[in-house]
Amino acid sequence: MRHFLGLKDFSKEELLEMLSIAHRLKADLKAGQAKPLMSGKTLAMIFEKSSTRTRVSFEVGARQLGMHPLFLSSRDIQLGRGEPMKDTARVIGRMCDMVMIRTFEHARLEEFAAHSPVPVINGLSDDFHPVQLMADYMTMQERGCAEGAVVAWIGDGNNMAASWLMLAAKLGFELRIATPKGYELPDRWVQMAESFAKSSGAIIRYGHDPKAVVSGATVVTTDVWTSMGQEAENEKRLTDFAGFTVDESLMALAKEGALFLHCLPAHRGEEVSEETFEAHAETIFTEAENRLHAQKGIMVWLDGNR
Ligand code: CP
Ligand code: NVA
Repeated sequence: MRHFLGLKDFSKEELLEMLSIAHRLKADLKAGQAKPLMSGKTLAMIFEKSSTRTRVSFEVGARQLGMHPLFLSSRDIQLGRGEPMKDTARVIGRMCDMVMIRTFEHARLEEFAAHSPVPVINGLSDDFHPVQLMADYMTMQERGCAEGAVVAWIGDGNNMAASWLMLAAKLGFELRIATPKGYELPDRWVQMAESFAKSSGAIIRYGHDPKAVVSGATVVTTDVWTSMGQEAENEKRLTDFAGFTVDESLMALAKEGALFLHCLPAHRGEEVSEETFEAHAETIFTEAENRLHAQKGIMVWLDGNR
């Protein structure tokens, strides 16, 4: 049994295999030939933070696979009143077949997984958002820009940035990261990525100048400046991230036809301008839709039904 807590735990071949299942399931769905590959199983979905896409995509995806999705908000279950993760894991594992968790500290997810008799999927933690990256890479594959990709990350060294770091390091593409000073990626993830990059051939660069990293990039991506749980820092971040808005003048430095990706929700006028967002809306909402397909690929893979 495997858990899906972070991209760092999988080989390139395994990640590509999950994506290949996802492409197949998407094509089947579009052709009206979706198969209930996980019929009769139950997916528990625990949310300790807000969500639109993760909730809808897991719930709809589970249904399409013939599963029963169970939405559990920490506001309603005993976890929110202090019942330990390890007890919750053992209870849910007696009744459900797979669990998705969105939480704060990554260690909470690891604690749950360590005590769970069924596969656990990370639906976002403070450290990583791996299911989002699977949808992002699926979108790059569909647009024919996965091979030879040069990805520019503009913004916070947050859970999305760390996930891009691990994806690049595992799959072996070029990733250039520009964060404001003081918002760099945690050293432990940088060191881990460097060790993966040695065998994958990934080129990873770190800096503080958005223009320099976007220059010649084939994919440009960003995320909110204030992530969930950091609301108290919002005002300071608005000042510290000045100059990090992805707008048309920045996009003009990227390679012609470069993709712009955003995991959403987006804060227009902060990390992305209204104009750039709307110019790339078709890609961004395909990326959002691909959450559904990519996660179905992950669930089917974890279920062993490939
Ligand atoms: N991108 C993403 O995970 O969106 P939600 O927070 O709405 O789930
Ligand atoms: N970095 C953001 C991603 C939201 C999908 C957050 O953690 O709030």
